[in-house]
Amino acid sequence: MANHTRGWWISEDGSDSLSASFRENIEPAELGVGTVTIDVDYSALNYKDALALGGSRGVVRTTPLIPGIDAAGIIRESSDPRFTVGEKVVLTGWGYGESRHGGLAETLVADSQHLMKIPGALSSYQAACFGTAGFTAALAISALEKSGVVATGGLPIAVTGAAGAVGSWSVALLARRGYRVSAITGRPHEAEYLRSLGAHDVLSRHEMMDLGKRPLGSETFGGVIDVAGGELLAALLSMLASNGVAVACGLAGGSSLPTTVLPFILRGISLIGINSVTKDTEVRERAWSDLAELASGLPLETMATTIELGSALSYAPTVLEGATRGRVVVDVRA
Ligand SMILES: NC(=O)c1ccc[n+]([C@@H]2O[C@H](COP(=O)([O-])OP(=O)(O)OC[C@H]3O[C@@H](n4cnc5c(N)ncnc54)[C@H](OP(=O)(O)O)[C@@H]3O)[C@@H](O)[C@H]2O)c1
Repeated sequence: MANHTRGWWISEDGSDSLSASFRENIEPAELGVGTVTIDVDYSALNYKDALALGGSRGVVRTTPLIPGIDAAGIIRESSDPRFTVGEKVVLTGWGYGESRHGGLAETLVADSQHLMKIPGALSSYQAACFGTAGFTAALAISALEKSGVVATGGLPIAVTGAAGAVGSWSVALLARRGYRVSAITGRPHEAEYLRSLGAHDVLSRHEMMDLGKRPLGSETFGGVIDVAGGELLAALLSMLASNGVAVACGLAGGSSLPTTVLPFILRGISLIGINSVTKDTEVRERAWSDLAELASGLPLETMATTIELGSALSYAPTVLEGATRGRVVVDVRA
């Protein structure tokens, strides 16, 4: 094991708050225990990571903590014969970056059952571009399809937070599977970007909220992938067609859900939740294999912004403002 690791370190600062500092000298003994050691190439700045860097105790469940819920890199040491030295792996969720050290450092000590081998067609950079966001989008699409939503002949699928990370992946992956996609955004200037991902329509978040104020609006969408929650999800539930399905993934607009039972009992709609954090190996393998198949030809250069490891803290407020386009990948080696 190399002597020291560079990375972000969240610790108690003696008051009620937590503080994040960049350390050049994290000792091997401070990295925790696990069955594999990974040289991390890329991590990401997810919404949760931005909260963690800001010291949110809602995300940081133990201290000290290396944040970063995603990591992609190469196995350096392994006591599990299923993983060999030099193999490319990706890790998302499972409490890394929340209740145990995560990916925003050069070395990650992990448990092998949480790893995925990166499918051959993908580089570790591409795997990091997908990360939690791409994985969540794949799970959301799978949930829609298991509930009977089909690509052909139906009404469009609405995607909220479309210019964000989960939203961008949802738009791009749905379009590649043949769905007609209505991208809903608070940033009209991202319309061209969203069309380049395959969106058929780009709709204003604020107009959707106005249109969906009645308990039952006109039947506009066959399905919804939502990262917003709050009033926007409530509006879209009222605009789902009969037997339509909404998949709730996030709370960028709030954790409340001010709705009524009317669309559920009069139109037979369903609302399904996604938790990407603890999915078993079989589900993760299927989703990553789908992602690898759909990856070729995606405009990653417009879907991801890459920042250096040392810039993660200063970039976090931009993520919390919802002002980033697509995914923020962190080059841990830079
Ligand atoms: N369930 C899971 O397992 C899972 C996994 C990953 C993420 N999440 C959650 O999903 C959400 C999105 O994650 P992300 O990584 O995609 O974050 P992100 O890249 O920051 O994207 C969030 C997007 O939401 C939109 N938005 C911002 N403020 C909003 C508001 N007040 N009302 C409605 N929409 C708003 C913005 O898109 P526009 O400007 O295009 O509207 C923003 O880009 C977060 O709450 C995250 O915690 C959950």
